[in-house]
Amino acid sequence: MNILQINSSIFSNGGQSSGLADEFVARLRAQNPGSRLTVRDLAADPVPHLDAARFGAFLAKPEERTPAQQAVVNYSDALVEELKRADIVVLGLPLYNFGLPSTLKAYFDHVGRAGVTFKYTEKGPIGLLTGKKVYVFAARGGFYAGTPGDTQTPYIRAFLSFVGMSDIEFIYAEGLSVSEASKQQGIAKARAEGYRLADAERDAALAAA
Ligand SMILES: Cc1cc2nc3c(=O)[nH]c(=O)nc-3n(C[C@H](O)[C@H](O)[C@H](O)COP(=O)(O)O)c2cc1C
Repeated sequence: MNILQINSSIFSNGGQSSGLADEFVARLRAQNPGSRLTVRDLAADPVPHLDAARFGAFLAKPEERTPAQQAVVNYSDALVEELKRADIVVLGLPLYNFGLPSTLKAYFDHVGRAGVTFKYTEKGPIGLLTGKKVYVFAARGGFYAGTPGDTQTPYIRAFLSFVGMSDIEFIYAEGLSVSEASKQQGIAKARAEGYRLADAERDAALAAA
């Protein structure tokens, strides 16, 4: 089992979303001793913003790419390869100013590539990063899950599904800025939910073996 953990908190592994993702991954790995883990920390190792030059590199014909354009494509290809190798993707997802961290958007802008991670067909777009399970640990100061105020969940679901990753579990740690008690409660609930899902993952693997 290949696990790719993507942390997008500005606090790297000090973020609540990263901590919950860590605990989930530790449980998953304890139950799957042969598993391999790759951690991508978008705060420590940020993906550049997409600009016209970088997007131009994606569009340039392979034989016409300049060395600089080739370097941009190689960088993006490596991010895509890392995703392709993963059976399980674990995403630490903070809510910042009603949206996703800008580092994660920059990452999405480098892995959402026509002809590489999705393609247009006569029947509409098809995602190419299939066969993966995604677990999203969403940390929020307030409470939004299940309400129209949660614009983050549909966006994340839409993007991941568009590139082929439609099997997604969202685990919410909410109310983290309300009070210390609320924070502890929110984290404990998300941790327990993560452990339950890790155990279900193990049971499914055992059943399939
Ligand atoms: C810059 C910034 C913006 C934030 N904006 C929101 C927000 O719009 N809504 C909310 O509920 N919480 C907001 N929060 C609180 C975070 O969602 C909360 O601290 C959460 O733990 C962040 O995840 P992290 O600890 O993994 O970084 C914000 C926090 C920061 C630092």
